[in-house]
Amino acid sequence: MFYGKFEGNDKSIFQDSLKALRRMFGRVYAQDNLIALQRTAGFLTDKRFRAAFDRHAQSDQEKSLGWRLHILTWAAEHCLSVPGDYVECGVYRGFSFAVVADYVNFASVQKNLFLYDTFAGIPEALNSENRSNARYEEETAEDPDAIYSHVVRTFAAYPNIKVVRGIIPDSFAEACPEQIALLHVDLNSSKSEIAALEVLFDKVTPGGFVIFDDYGWVGYQEQKRAEDIFAGDRGHQIVELPTGQGLLIKR
Ligand SMILES: C[S@@+](CC[C@H](N)C(=O)[O-])C[C@H]1O[C@@H](n2cnc3c(N)ncnc32)[C@H](O)[C@@H]1O
Repeated sequence: MFYGKFEGNDKSIFQDSLKALRRMFGRVYAQDNLIALQRTAGFLTDKRFRAAFDRHAQSDQEKSLGWRLHILTWAAEHCLSVPGDYVECGVYRGFSFAVVADYVNFASVQKNLFLYDTFAGIPEALNSENRSNARYEEETAEDPDAIYSHVVRTFAAYPNIKVVRGIIPDSFAEACPEQIALLHVDLNSSKSEIAALEVLFDKVTPGGFVIFDDYGWVGYQEQKRAEDIFAGDRGHQIVELPTGQGLLIKR
């Protein structure tokens, strides 16, 4: 799946271009606005990854997120040996951490996972980029109670996963780990993300990871700008990954 404004016969031109790339280069990975030529993309044939990913990816959009989820599951596996809990800021329907929790068998892990969201979109006061809360233009607003219940059901089998409903950063007062090994930031708003980092960054253990979901996407440059300043002020740098994610390793 690709995001973009396809008009007229754009889609068939795009499909023809992919065919031409396949003819020229053999193996072509093309998903989630990422075209990679002659890459192994080993996660596609990794049985453990595929089983966890395929169990949870339902929509075309979720199915397109393989490489991003490969980064997240790799990070989650790595951070098992880093002291601290896991945190996701921006959960929506819980897709990413449903895959992560499945992949690392989180119920057997001696850590907690905290999942924070309003389940009602970006709060008005923190919607710095004036983003629509609908995922797609044609979508009508989703029922927050239904999204929240879906997420609670998804993680019900994990006694060590806590779903915290409310506005970040205020919701951290309800429940917040002392130490964080893995922090996933996916709030689609620079104000929300910086507000989260102001509270959580100091809790990230040396060697722990912070992954920014939107960091390299051109439509989200305000987040990158704010996060580069935030990280730079604390002597850190974020690496931009081809998936559009950003990765920071805490010193
Ligand atoms: C892109 S979605 C998260 C997607 C999710 N990580 C996944 O894997 O599917 C962004 C979410 O951030 C939430 N959000 C944005 N700002 C927030 C804030 N200040 N407090 C709580 N939730 C917020 C929205 O409600 C929305 O569900």
